[in-house]
Amino acid sequence: MSTEKYAVIGNPIAHSQSPLIHQAFAAQCNKDISYERILAPIDAFEMTVRTLIDQGYQGANVTVPFKFEAFALCNEVSERAQHALAEAVNTLVFKNGNIFGDNTDGVGLLNDIEHNLKFRISGKRVLVLGAGGAAQGVLQHLACAASVTVANRSVDKAHAIVAKLDETIFSACQFATLSDPYDIIINATSTGLTDTQLPIPDVIFSKDCLAYDMMYGRDTPFMKQAKVAGAHVHDGLGMLVEQAAEAFYIWHHVRPNTPPVMTMLRALKKVA
Ligand code: ATR
Repeated sequence: MSTEKYAVIGNPIAHSQSPLIHQAFAAQCNKDISYERILAPIDAFEMTVRTLIDQGYQGANVTVPFKFEAFALCNEVSERAQHALAEAVNTLVFKNGNIFGDNTDGVGLLNDIEHNLKFRISGKRVLVLGAGGAAQGVLQHLACAASVTVANRSVDKAHAIVAKLDETIFSACQFATLSDPYDIIINATSTGLTDTQLPIPDVIFSKDCLAYDMMYGRDTPFMKQAKVAGAHVHDGLGMLVEQAAEAFYIWHHVRPNTPPVMTMLRALKKVA
């Protein structure tokens, strides 16, 4: 059997853990794959994809800033990517000259919160901080909650997004008006990258609530505040591994076992 070729395309890309994750999944499932990081020039995403196809790659993951361009490049996208708020895909399948796209980010978040962390979303009060690409990629997957409040610095953006969703569940507000406790709070802003404190009050962290930062690999100001306020705090490493597991399933039709891969990544970080 010949080696199947995959890659993750982004800019920057050096930090990506996806090769480690996919190689670990492949080892579990006795699959022979190669998986590389590909740095695409900002203005040459399409050319990069076409080159991979010419070289016989079977598929690719796509990360910042190319998820929207990837959607536009697809001949066909999955039902969930078609009906998503953001026209973005993170997984490509190359087959018979066609490019099929899917977005596994929302399922990745859901699987991490519900299966790994054992927090139920159904019937809960959920707060999402942020209304950018990261938030838009996951909001629809939270529709089983009792309520989902989207708080954003630019409140108009939050209002525009919730207007496209079920108004009996989703609502928008400014950070300044947050005064109620929530069961699950998800930080989907990019403030972790710049170590910026969000203007959110401690009262939003209810007893035993889950405070989840979609960023991974660092203790963000949001996570530090939530810890002091007594919340159960988790970063987005589990989401990263779960979205990869869903991509692996799309490519290989086998579901890998994710917890050992999370343990491996956390151990690597400790010795790094
Ligand atoms: P991503 O793809 O990571 O979501 P993005 O689409 O640029 O990136 O969105 C970034 C999110 O972080 C937005 O919700 C942004 O708020 P605005 O829509 O008001 O710009 C939020 N964000 C970034 N810096 C912030 C800050 N200093 N304070 C509050 N929110 C911030």
